Amino acid sequence: MKLEGKVALVTGTSPNIMGGIAEGLAEEGADLVCIDIRAEYAEQCAQSVINGGRRAIGIACDVTDEEQVIATVERAKESFGGLDILVNGATVFNTKGVLDMPLDEWRQQTDVMLTGAFLFTKHAAKQMIDLGRRGNMINIISTAGHQGEPGNIGYGTAKGGLLNFTRSVAMELAQYGIRVNSVTPTATDRTEGSERAKRWGVDWPPPRRGQRNKGLLPDASTGSPLRKLPSPSHYAKAAAFLASDEAEMITGLDLRVDAGAISKYWIWDPSAEASNG
Ligand SMILES: NC(=O)c1ccc[n+]([C@@H]2O[C@H](COP(=O)([O-])OP(=O)(O)OC[C@H]3O[C@@H](n4cnc5c(N)ncnc54)[C@H](O)[C@@H]3O)[C@@H](O)[C@H]2O)c1
Repeated sequence: MKLEGKVALVTGTSPNIMGGIAEGLAEEGADLVCIDIRAEYAEQCAQSVINGGRRAIGIACDVTDEEQVIATVERAKESFGGLDILVNGATVFNTKGVLDMPLDEWRQQTDVMLTGAFLFTKHAAKQMIDLGRRGNMINIISTAGHQGEPGNIGYGTAKGGLLNFTRSVAMELAQYGIRVNSVTPTATDRTEGSERAKRWGVDWPPPRRGQRNKGLLPDASTGSPLRKLPSPSHYAKAAAFLASDEAEMITGLDLRVDAGAISKYWIWDPSAEASNG
């Protein structure tokens, strides 16, 4: 096991990607602090980790509220002695374009995705430095943070920002032996998320704002070079590797788990090739 004896805090633990990452880190031996603004997601994620034989606590916390973030990081220390791993994944989906996005919704979306990651990074890093822990952090990006997607202005902007936040923090914290990397997921197969929601006994997906690109995008799987979409468990394996000592010389990296999406030559259409036989 790669993460035996480590303590990981994961934010945004819905039954989809971050719940999958939390369970994946626990399978590699980590104890878990599961964070979500929705108490049932935090608690059920923690319960699932406990059912799998590891220690865990679930905390309802708004990642944009500094007092709550400080209290949460402190509770991780009281419960498990301190953090070794932080995974920032809390997100708000709101598919609106620059012409339609109201200011208050722009602020709320970018606040959760950027300020939330900033606050947890700041306070987790201070704790790691105080305790002399050579920990590491992983920020969850998206292929939408690497490319210009129409009709998703807040999301793409925040994810692009988070990508360079990762590199900047990696440089600042290198002197303390703290590594900072990111994982880039892409359009994700929803089977695991639905199964996990059923197993946890919670509703998922939550209601989303906006209308996905108003028909501008085709079914994502048709453009995947590997001809299928990744699942949360694929991201969990990448996160476990980056969080482990196997990645001890890796910092400032973005590990794309996107079935080849970002490397694809923009005119090439894998689905056309498949249908041509
Ligand atoms: N689903 C995809 O296709 C996809 C693709 C690329 C990247 N991603 C990224 O993967 C990560 C997880 O995505 P997902 O599909 O599992 O999303 P999700 O909507 O299922 O989960 C996001 C969670 O963040 C929580 N959250 C929102 N605001 C919060 C706040 N203020 N404080 C604490 N928690 C808050 C929500 O309650 C929710 O449980 C996100 O960072 C997302 O951007 C997802």
